[in-house]
Amino acid sequence: MTAVLVLHGPNLNLLGTREPEIYGALTLEEIDRRLVALGRELGAEVRTFQSNSEGALIDALHAAPTWADGVVFNPGGYTHTSVALRDAVAAIGLPVVEVHLSNVHAREEFRRRSLIAPVCIGSISGFGWQSYTLALRALLTHLTSDT
Ligand code: DQA
Repeated sequence: MTAVLVLHGPNLNLLGTREPEIYGALTLEEIDRRLVALGRELGAEVRTFQSNSEGALIDALHAAPTWADGVVFNPGGYTHTSVALRDAVAAIGLPVVEVHLSNVHAREEFRRRSLIAPVCIGSISGFGWQSYTLALRALLTHLTSDT
């Protein structure tokens, strides 16, 4: 069975109460529940993990090739700053889809630059929690298509 890691970075544990006008009203637990259910519907095992720490996110990426076929990754604020996370994504050799709840291109200038995007197969931004479902569908399509 296809297996996918959904990885959430810093501050995403606060979803539901964190700036809901930007990030929406759903909690991370509820988003994860929906992603596991969608994965089941599409024939994929989805495992989720959140950390506020860069090292723990890197460790989760390093472990992913032992069990997962691809990764859906919201690096949060590290998107714009972390060479180490970019290097980890590049190192693992798995397809990674970058996700953002908000449209990072329509916000502050510093959010327009992603260090992670160039080492991902693609990025989805601006659709609220549905950015994750779109990313999961895109990743599964990528994993099962022949080109
Ligand atoms: C975010 C966008 C980032 O700029 C921000 O730092 C976050 C969340 C998003 O999902 O919209 O923490 O990744």
